[in-house]
Amino acid sequence: MPRMSSDQRHAIDVVLNGKPVRGEAEPRMLLTDFLRHELGATGTHVGCEHGVCGACTVTVDGMMTRACLTLAVQVQGCDVRTVEGLAIAPDRLSVLQAAFRRHHALQCGFCTAGILMSLDAFLRANPAPDEAQIRDLLSGHLCRCTGYTPIIRAALDAAAELASQSVEFDSSHA
Ligand code: FES
Ligand code: FES
Repeated sequence: MPRMSSDQRHAIDVVLNGKPVRGEAEPRMLLTDFLRHELGATGTHVGCEHGVCGACTVTVDGMMTRACLTLAVQVQGCDVRTVEGLAIAPDRLSVLQAAFRRHHALQCGFCTAGILMSLDAFLRANPAPDEAQIRDLLSGHLCRCTGYTPIIRAALDAAAELASQSVEFDSSHA
């Protein structure tokens, strides 16, 4: 059986933010580097590079994922979502993004992409969270600037707005 070189590059096909794309990666390439350098998705940030800070969080098939602990080859054929895919349209922020803006929930912004991705996935699964649950989620993210309080306010505000939108949607389709 021929030996595979560790430098050999492989084609990786993913659906990135709803669009099929292809890039190439050596077997050891991290998902962070694949997203940023191969696919140009530089919204995903790299902080600690060992799974602690949460800056690199994306979703893979809907699951919150540390891109710095994932190899690019592991996402072959997967649905990958990054912060670039959150906005509803180029000129229209998502409810969560708009709440971050309203509550000044970022300063330098380095942690923000990862926090938005975690909160987006979390709010989809937990539409009526309490503050303790939001704090628990944020324990997986390091933010050196905000003190977390405005992030918590933004998350709770976004959850309330999303809940009221779904009530309006449900009653308008009753
Ligand atoms: S860069 Fe991935 S968790 Fe810090
Ligand atoms: S806004 Fe600067 S690290 Fe969070």
